[in-house]
Amino acid sequence: MKLPEKFIFRYEKIIPDFPHFLEFLERRLRIYIRINPLKANEQDREEIIRKYDCEPIPFYPYAFKLKSERDEVSIGNTLEHFLGYIYVQDMASMIPPIVLEPKKYEKVLDLTAAPGSKTTLISALMENTGLIVANDINIDRLKALTGNIDRMGSLNVVITNLHGERFGNLFYEYFDKVLLDAPCSSEGTINKNYEVLNHWSEFYINKMAKIQKNLIISAFKSLKKGGTLVYSTCTFAPEENEGVINFLLNKYENAILEEINIPGIKICEGITKWEGFENEELKKCVRIYPHYNECEGFFVCKIKKI
Ligand SMILES: C[S@@+](CC[C@H](N)C(=O)[O-])C[C@H]1O[C@@H](n2cnc3c(N)ncnc32)[C@H](O)[C@@H]1O
Repeated sequence: MKLPEKFIFRYEKIIPDFPHFLEFLERRLRIYIRINPLKANEQDREEIIRKYDCEPIPFYPYAFKLKSERDEVSIGNTLEHFLGYIYVQDMASMIPPIVLEPKKYEKVLDLTAAPGSKTTLISALMENTGLIVANDINIDRLKALTGNIDRMGSLNVVITNLHGERFGNLFYEYFDKVLLDAPCSSEGTINKNYEVLNHWSEFYINKMAKIQKNLIISAFKSLKKGGTLVYSTCTFAPEENEGVINFLLNKYENAILEEINIPGIKICEGITKWEGFENEELKKCVRIYPHYNECEGFFVCKIKKI
């Protein structure tokens, strides 16, 4: 794999153990699954763990790493998958809903939700109660979302097809929890999809950062006072991560960052200084690197509205 020179120049400064990171990008990632407690009972769970040779993931009792080198396609063709007993989802992608901590009977907004990996996890965490509004701008991706919430038996989800930027005014201070799993340059998924590099450029990163800033304003406005917003991306670019959070903190005095703890995962703190921002508070953001955790690269930040 040939990485753009600029990519290396940018990230050798901020990604720890950079040679190990580069070497890891060439590897195929492990397969992770979630067992769906809305459908699978205790006996089904035990059977799936045995049949697929599953290793537990410490931060969620229904999350597992497959010990064998299965591929995503073969597990996607099983009866358990078809019946919605399991969902194939990278371990890092499960973290934002866990950090969001949705509770039973709450009102939750998943602003950019398709194809629903996180929506269906939120639904399971809420034990199919309360309300989740799952929104996405892309109608084709919404078809996959509809299929997934149907398959997983999530009955507490309403789907909308709006520009996420509109929610802040349409549903001002309405939701207890908001997840913004933002569209991004997807650098953290290079292992899975080398094509990410075809459209990689700093221009593209800055373009995504503009979209993310508009979406995070809308997400924050739609959040009740005392509520929690989780912002996540699957990219490394500080402009799309800490830069967006810094923008929010500068704009709203009542936005404060909370510490994040994820048992069993090696997390790195957020970057506090980059072109365009400097803020020690950004340490509270977390970066999840593939070479430390055998998973996709992710950025997660937890914000409280006071
Ligand atoms: C990272 S993906 C979301 C993945 C999803 N949260 C999951 O876990 O399955 C980002 C999504 O944002 C959607 N999107 C992009 N721009 C948007 C906008 N302005 N408003 C709403 N959705 C948008 C894309 O269609 C895409 O489905």
